Amino acid sequence: MICSDEHWLLSFYRVSEISGSLFFGRLARGMKPGRIQVDMTKHFADEAQHAWLWTECLGKLSLEPLKVEEAYQDQYITEAGMPVNVMEVLAITQVFEQRVLRQYNMHKQIPNLNPVIREYLERIMKDEEWHIKWIRGELKEMETEYGRDNIMATLKRFHDADERVYDKAMKENAHRLQNILASYGATK
Ligand SMILES: [Fe+2]
Ligand SMILES: [Fe+2]
Repeated sequence: MICSDEHWLLSFYRVSEISGSLFFGRLARGMKPGRIQVDMTKHFADEAQHAWLWTECLGKLSLEPLKVEEAYQDQYITEAGMPVNVMEVLAITQVFEQRVLRQYNMHKQIPNLNPVIREYLERIMKDEEWHIKWIRGELKEMETEYGRDNIMATLKRFHDADERVYDKAMKENAHRLQNILASYGATK
């Protein structure tokens, strides 16, 4: 049995993956032929699969996903503004994916973590690593068109927005992680 905070957090992951999938799905649908179109489609499909994996994971723990209203993504757009071109889309995605990976990694570090959750985290994190990798490659390629300084400045802008989102809303997340940590400590 897992604690209610971990139940909430896994449900939150599921909703965030759904939001990611919808975001990339919409982008992939409207994209012109080319490498980005292909990778974006895979990216969209991965996030959809992750939403299912968290649902499956909760099922294995005999739990149903909670209805969580807020996802990371919604707050990003509010804080950083809508990306205006493909480069900005990739930049915001890069920053966001790094945050997701950090969060999953933090969760994975919990001592005595439920092995089912660990297995799903590891499986999903493998894809998240690829997400960061392909986007980093494309941003590098875009330096000739958009300019390296411009790309760096855009990344910085989104990093700052990311910090603000994390500071504001994600404190709640960190708090839950602390409770989860305590609950594993208590059942040791
Ligand atoms: Fe994902
Ligand atoms: Fe991802």
